Amino acid sequence: MEEIAYSSEELLRLNALYMKEKQKRIDLEKRLKKSRTQLKVCRDKLSLLRKRSAENRKALTITNEQLEKYASDLRTIVESLNKTNRDLQNAYQDTIHRLVLASEYKDNETGNHIHRMSRYCAKVAEKLNFSKEEVEHIRFATPMHDVGKIGIPDRIILKNGRLTRKEFEIVKKHTIIGAEILQNSKARILKLARDIALYHHEKWDGTGYPEGLKGEAIPVHARIVALCDIFDALTSKRPYKSSYPVDVSCEIIKKGKGTHFDPALTDIFLSSIDELVSIKNEIDLPSRAIAVAAYTWSERDLIDAVR
Ligand SMILES: [Fe+2]
Ligand SMILES: [Fe+2]
Repeated sequence: MEEIAYSSEELLRLNALYMKEKQKRIDLEKRLKKSRTQLKVCRDKLSLLRKRSAENRKALTITNEQLEKYASDLRTIVESLNKTNRDLQNAYQDTIHRLVLASEYKDNETGNHIHRMSRYCAKVAEKLNFSKEEVEHIRFATPMHDVGKIGIPDRIILKNGRLTRKEFEIVKKHTIIGAEILQNSKARILKLARDIALYHHEKWDGTGYPEGLKGEAIPVHARIVALCDIFDALTSKRPYKSSYPVDVSCEIIKKGKGTHFDPALTDIFLSSIDELVSIKNEIDLPSRAIAVAAYTWSERDLIDAVR
């Protein structure tokens, strides 16, 4: 085998090359070690994150369950509140109805008067573009307009003949008594009812009672009630008078335009007369049908009659 002979320069170069490669290897090993350490740190961090994430998921599930329970409890509470609200509303309307019934015992006017008034006034309020809520309020407040008659002696309120001047002065007080019964309430309907009770006999020209208010100083709800009340009185039969035909009643109302009644309201009222008459028929006809039915012969009457 032939020996390779290196010159000393070649040997030096080879040695330098070896040393350089050796250093490279040491550097690589160092970098590898450093990378391994970094990898381990990353793995530990990742594991910690996974652990935390699992804990967070668990906490989220618990929170979701709690939220669902709260939502279900809240739904139950809202349903119960709605029911309480409906019960209160019914009790409230029932109380109003009973208050009105109590005042009717003192009056010649029938329950139908109250019913018709309530519908007439709501219709006029609708024509005036009152909000739906306000129309409802006027519908419930109107029946209480004469509640103050409770405080007027029977001998005067139930008298069929003409009232003396002194008796009329006493009757006028039903407006003030009604307002006193209804005053100081926080409920919108009762506040309205109070104003209506107090001012429904005021006249546009200031000649009404109890305060002699004039024009728009009279609350609009009371001006509506004044119109509907007179229309209903004219078109209804009373112990001391027969009912006037609708056209005659409209003529009388027209004459009161600008003196007794708000002129703009009178126009709206008269232009709605067909709808108002429909309401009257709707309310009066069933009672007329009942009255007619009361006079219908029974089978026994028929048998007896043909004998
Ligand atoms: Fe009245
Ligand atoms: Fe009335």
